[in-house]
Formats: sequence, structure tokens, C-alpha cells
Amino acid sequence: MTSSRASGRTFPADFLWGSATASYQIEGAVTEDGRGPSIWDTFSGTPGKTLNGDTGAVAADHYHRVDEDVALMKDLGLHAYRFSIAWPRVQPTGSGAFNPKGLDFYSRLVDQLRGADIAPVVTLYHWDLPQPLEDAGGWPNRDTAYRFADYARKVAEVLGDRVEIWTTFNEPWCSAYLGYASGVHAPGRNSHADSLAAAHHLNLAHGLGGRAIREVLPDAKLSITLNLHVTRAASTAPEDVDAKRRIDNLANEIFLQPVLEGRYPEELLADTASVTDWSFVHDGDAELCQVPLSVLGINYYSTGLVKKREGEYVPGDGTPGPDGHKSSPVSAWPAADDVEWLPQPGPYTAMGWNIEPEGLTELLVDVHTRYPEVPLAVTENGAAFYDTVAEDGRVHDVDRVTYLHDHIDAVGDAIDKGVDVRGYFVWSLMDNFEWAYGYDRRFGIVHVDYDTLVRTRKDSSYWYAELVRTNTIPT
Ligand code: NOJ
Repeated sequence: MTSSRASGRTFPADFLWGSATASYQIEGAVTEDGRGPSIWDTFSGTPGKTLNGDTGAVAADHYHRVDEDVALMKDLGLHAYRFSIAWPRVQPTGSGAFNPKGLDFYSRLVDQLRGADIAPVVTLYHWDLPQPLEDAGGWPNRDTAYRFADYARKVAEVLGDRVEIWTTFNEPWCSAYLGYASGVHAPGRNSHADSLAAAHHLNLAHGLGGRAIREVLPDAKLSITLNLHVTRAASTAPEDVDAKRRIDNLANEIFLQPVLEGRYPEELLADTASVTDWSFVHDGDAELCQVPLSVLGINYYSTGLVKKREGEYVPGDGTPGPDGHKSSPVSAWPAADDVEWLPQPGPYTAMGWNIEPEGLTELLVDVHTRYPEVPLAVTENGAAFYDTVAEDGRVHDVDRVTYLHDHIDAVGDAIDKGVDVRGYFVWSLMDNFEWAYGYDRRFGIVHVDYDTLVRTRKDSSYWYAELVRTNTIPT
């Protein structure tokens, strides 16, 4: 894969360059120092749920290698590090007592980052719900939102103003639909009605949690990260255009409108009426979901193409589907079984995702046009390939360099069009547990040998460090 884009573009002087990870994907040490079980421990420990039966029990062993990993980030010259806090590490059952050892771990991490001049960008929820909360109903249960707010308040009290940006949720789309509809993610349930209730309670938890953080830290910079979908209709036929409209509502509007406007789109309620009556949205809830955002995080990897399906819904067999997610007998998309996702032209990453940097420019421009007052950050972007350490001891991940080069240039295009983009976080700092796909597909700019846990910088990490140092896209 070679780039057709020029190099040499320079970014605004205060642009934030970072990398991102998530607790369950890198930490390991799942039973240590009082951590309670999460839904991902249960799910990945259930035969058949993840590729090769992989789990996050050891992962990249970051819990024990945090010093080395912060030193690595310092070497890379990163301005910021986006990581998540494992809720079951700091509050083992998801309610009641907090665990001082768990809180200490993150407190030390934040201090170390500050000491290395790296701004801590915290995500409070990157999918590892304490198992007891799932046993009590999980995200379809309204009470989970209130439990989240208590947890958020405690973490804000402990970490305080040392945190640069507070992100409530990472990709609530995945938690709701992959967790409760298609069930290819934890907790692996299959109910379209529950997935929509989960989406609402995640929005509500964002609003309640955001308010709790601001009560403790009035000047906290607050954020949420959404994986907004760039979906196109396969033709101008009204039924294909309508398929795209419905997907936009299920993928994007269901989060954007409550979080940024304090309301749910009427169309979404009508589109999904066959599945739920939305009685889980109580009076005043939609307004509660909205809390002023300091920055909106956007994760972007690929684009989607849809049409109205001609025949019956085809149950997936667990292989990657053309919507970019592992397929399932139950569609991830409530009340949209008649929407067909079409394969797209390559090139592709090892996830089978088509590579289309222009989609990122389009997305940033669209969101900015609708919400011009909200600053944006690309909180995840990157590519998985099957990297190996070469005989010379290095990892020559040329395809990843091209991917990053072109997508970062696409961010530059958006900035040139007037979009207020404040930062970019490469996914991921290091190879890690890629959820249902286990350890096969590697996203890191640093290679992790899962036998020895040795870290080896890939060529992309040298390229990225050069970008950070010069604030200019290297060749
Ligand atoms: C989104 C998720 O936030 C992250 O956990 C995941 O590893 C990447 N995308 C790649 O799939």
C-alpha cells in the first residue's frame, strides 16, 4: 500500500498528539489487588466467545509494567495519553465500597504521566462493567446509570485536577448493540429492545456522571467518545437512501442528539417502534443526558455501504461482517434486519475494514457544521495488521505508516476547511487484546511479544515520534 498524499503538512501549534489504550485490553492482573470480575472476564472466559479463547487475563501485562510503558511514551514524546480506568479495579462490585489499591494504581499512573509531561486523558468506561452490575440487569437496567455516576464522582475526587480531560464513555454504540443485540461483545445478550434501553442508560449515565464530575471539579474538561459511522447508500433508490437514514439514526443520532441537544430524534423512535415503546425514557431524561461538553471525541477507522435487503435477513456465522463487526445470528441493528451491508473496495486492514481517509475529513466536517461550538478530537484512529518482528529485530509496519500518514493528512484537510480539531490519538500505543478477535490482529505502534511481554517499537512509532517532534507530517 502506498500513499497518494503529500507529506509536509504542519498542524496548529497547540495540537495535542497522543496515543490511546483501554484497561481490559492492556492491563492483565485481573484478580490482583482486589479487582473484581468484569463482564469481559466472564465473556472471554466462556468457550467460543473470542478467537482462540483469548482473554485479557495477562494481556500486555501493563499493570506490572507501567513504569516501562510511561518511559516508552516519554521516548515517543507524546503530549497526551488516553487510557481507561477499570471500574471493577476501583469499585469491585460496582456499588458500595471502593478499593484503595485500585484507586492508587491510577493515581500513580497519573502522577507518572504528569512527571513525564504527558497529559492524562481519562476514559471512565471502556467496556469493563463490574459483573455484579450485569447480574443485576446491566445497561438495560436504569440503576446502572446511577451506579456509574457514583463511581465517576469518586474517581474525580481521587484524581482531581491532575486529569486533563474526563471522558465518560468510549463508543457506547458498541456497549449497547454489540453487547446486548448481536452479543458478539460482553455480556453477549441478544435483545434488540434491551440494546436500545442500554443505549439510553449509557446516555443518561453520561449526563449524570458528567454532572457528578463537575460538582467535584467545576472546571473539569468533559468529553465523550463516539464511534460515529460514515455510512453511504448503495444507490439513490428511495429504499436505499432510507436504509442509510435509519442506520444514521441508530449509529449516530441516538447518541449525538441526547448528548449535545438534550433530545431523541422522533424518527428514531418511529423507526424502532416494532421493537420497543421507549418507555425506559422517563420525563426529563433526554435533558439530563446533555451536559456541556468541552470536547467531543471521535473514533474513526472505516466507512460503511448499505442498501435495502431484497431477501430475508441472513444470520451471520461469527465471521467478520461487511459492517465491520463480527457477524451474529442476531443483527447488531435493532429494527433494521432489512438493511444489507455491502462489501466495499479495498485496500483493507487485517480487520477486513476498507481504508478510506476521506471519510474522516467528511465526518469531522459534518459534525463541525452541525455543532460548530464543540471542539473535536480524534480519540482513536489506526490500523491492525499481522505484524511480526523481522530478522533485524525491527517491525517494518509500512502499511500502518501509510494508513496513519493518510488519515492524519485527512485531519489536516478538515482543519483547513475550518473544523476545530484539537488533537489526535493513535490507536494504539501497543498491541493488545482486540476483544472478540483476541490477540491475532495487532493495532500497536509498539509490538508486544505475548510470550515474553517484551515491547519492541515498530517503524510506525519512530514515524509518529517524528511527527510529534516536528508537528509536521513526515514522509
Ligand atoms: C474501538 C475501541 O474503542 C477499541 O477498544 C478497539 O480496540 C478499536 N476500536 C479497534 O477495534
